[in-house]
Amino acid sequence: MAKKKEVNVKYETKTKIVLSDNEIRDITNCLRKGIPLPEKYRFLLFDDKREVELVWNGKSEDVTNVVLPFQIIEQIDEPRIEKISGEKQATLFDVDTRGRQLQGWTNKLIWGDNKLILSSLKNGPLREEIEKQGGIKLIYIDPPFDVGADFSMKINIGDEEFTKQPNVLEELAYRDTWGKGADSFIAMMYERLMLMRDLLAEDGSIYVHCDWRVKSYLRLLLDEIFGKENFRNEIIWHYFMGGKSKRFFAQKHDTIFFYSKSDSWFFSEESLETERILPYVPSLKSEKGIEEIPCPNCNLGTGVWKSKVKMDDVWDMSGVFNMSKEWIDYPTQKPEALIKRIIEACSKKGDLICDFFCGSGTTLSIAEKLGRKWIGADLGKFAIHTTRKRMINVQRQLKNEGKDFRAFEILNLGKYERQHYIGVNPNLRDEEKQKQLAKKEEEFVKLILHAYRAEKVEGFKTFSGKKLNRMVVIGPVDLPVGRLFVEEAIQEAIEKKITKLDVLAFEFEMGLFPHIQEEAKARGVDLALKYIPKDVFDKRAVEKNQIVFNDVSYIEVKPLYKDNSIAIELTDFSVFYNQDSIKNVEENLKDGGDKILVENGNIIKVSKDKEGIIRREILTKKWTDWIDYWAVDFDFESKKEIIKMEKQKDIKQTGKLDLEEYKKEYEEVWTGDYIFENEWQSFRTKKNRELELKTPFKKLDSGKRKIAIKVVDIFGNDTMKIIEVKGDNK
Ligand SMILES: C[S@@+](CC[C@H](N)C(=O)[O-])C[C@H]1O[C@@H](n2cnc3c(N)ncnc32)[C@H](O)[C@@H]1O
Repeated sequence: MAKKKEVNVKYETKTKIVLSDNEIRDITNCLRKGIPLPEKYRFLLFDDKREVELVWNGKSEDVTNVVLPFQIIEQIDEPRIEKISGEKQATLFDVDTRGRQLQGWTNKLIWGDNKLILSSLKNGPLREEIEKQGGIKLIYIDPPFDVGADFSMKINIGDEEFTKQPNVLEELAYRDTWGKGADSFIAMMYERLMLMRDLLAEDGSIYVHCDWRVKSYLRLLLDEIFGKENFRNEIIWHYFMGGKSKRFFAQKHDTIFFYSKSDSWFFSEESLETERILPYVPSLKSEKGIEEIPCPNCNLGTGVWKSKVKMDDVWDMSGVFNMSKEWIDYPTQKPEALIKRIIEACSKKGDLICDFFCGSGTTLSIAEKLGRKWIGADLGKFAIHTTRKRMINVQRQLKNEGKDFRAFEILNLGKYERQHYIGVNPNLRDEEKQKQLAKKEEEFVKLILHAYRAEKVEGFKTFSGKKLNRMVVIGPVDLPVGRLFVEEAIQEAIEKKITKLDVLAFEFEMGLFPHIQEEAKARGVDLALKYIPKDVFDKRAVEKNQIVFNDVSYIEVKPLYKDNSIAIELTDFSVFYNQDSIKNVEENLKDGGDKILVENGNIIKVSKDKEGIIRREILTKKWTDWIDYWAVDFDFESKKEIIKMEKQKDIKQTGKLDLEEYKKEYEEVWTGDYIFENEWQSFRTKKNRELELKTPFKKLDSGKRKIAIKVVDIFGNDTMKIIEVKGDNK
């Protein structure tokens, strides 16, 4: 009954439509002929006459509600295996054993498209956890308004700088955002801002950072989504560096819009206190709120006066540039002081803060330092890796200072995002999901073969295609390829007298490589294992033949034993990437020019002198040049990855047909994977390029256990290796 009433209210017209006979005829004619109505009818026909509104092609208020479970890729508790100082931390962390955080909220760094992330946070099981923390009190976002700057990364190799091009998925996001100029940018932001509004606590606030290119659109979007009455400030951040023009005034400010979710929001009055040098006006001294304070360099004679004043909405602050202490080489990095002011103004200690376009993690780093909880998200792999290093540094710094810090985990939508891309509904019952998966998988195999430029083959147990003289095997979409799967393919190759085999997969079981290849070689089969990039879901990229299937990277380590303790030494690492080809670069290089490219796992500088003579120089001289970061979990398989899945309820049994009343219930399910607990790590930073290649010794309990070693290369890609060790081994 209640529902019916609601529907009536929704469609009840508040004002009567009065149209002339001519207008009615005009409208009927248009509809009959299937042609658009003239613009004037927008204001004559609709009840909700928004006089000022931003409209764009394809505007829709539909918001995705898809829920995908988050997978935990890595957990970073106590960043190094050492004793924790400070008594307070001892209640949060397990000091005696593995430095695990024992209780409470774990901060979250999520890798993926923030649309799916926002919708999964809003509608999925994590929402309950968020609400338990008091909800999200503050969102700061700095969306990509600097066209293209975000996904190409500068990488230092010795004294040279190399630009890593975006991967196709990043390019796809870039095209989705900018492909149709302002239209697509606005559409992208509209849906995400609506999801953010729904996630924000009732007394929460949002700050949206933008520049002159997009600020007018965003202002209107924010008015529409949050309500004009909830507009609080248009903050002008004025900076000094950067280019100048001789033909117009230098563009030296960004705009940050501040909206609250409702008319009751948290704002710390203290954060308004500031000091400013003012021109000397005798009457100022007696004015309320303005106080004379000592200023050795100011005196009446110079005409300036240092005073306590209330902060206004124009902020003069230096930007971050390559000489700044806090610069970590992220092209769109924002200054910490700017974010600090925002966080201090609109949140309290212990509040949850989010940045869904987190880039290099500036917001998260300040949130951690100020004792706030946080969630950050970014689509760029490099952004996530940069943030991971930055947050570990913050943890280390806080720990050294004896201050509190929290554990954080890195999550993604992993295989569920892939299932979503191929169109499997995660909420189906298992049996139906399997059926749908089988059908979709068939289409998926077709897509992969097309992207790999291979032909389909029939009549084999394990082979799906053929490329030149190599048979092609494709792994399942939602599971890592394991030993059994590859062995079956090798067996079939031997039976059918096939000597060359390519196995393509999203993920391989860890530790499979390189042993499986050596075994295959001994049995006469040349086996290549290649990663299917996420980018295959971009049809345009497939058509353009842009998809690169990289070979699996390769890690070698040596366990070192001493007095029932173990240390790990990293002894080799190889990658096989390609970006451009030497032939291509040489053909297109102008005399006197140079270019850096990647071919077969070498970074090569190609230069052409004025006479057209070409030189090649390999910049990656040692295997360690490829490594940016490595980390060790000394007891892998001790923490299972548990995710929450929606419980399948039989509606007939519960008798609950009213969807409003149908409360979702979740159950905890083990994914079959383990969480990589990052117990020790060494990485390069902008200032410190050194990498330790040996971990310290760690006590080894008796019995067998697995140690996982993760390497992140300079492109931000992870590779993992697992070794088995025995406690009483010497
Ligand atoms: C301007 S930068 C943010 C910089 C950040 N404020 C800092 O201080 O480092 C914008 C970020 O948005 C990310 N991004 C772009 N589209 C995205 C999407 N659909 N989902 C998540 N992140 C996205 C980019 O990877 C980029 O890191």
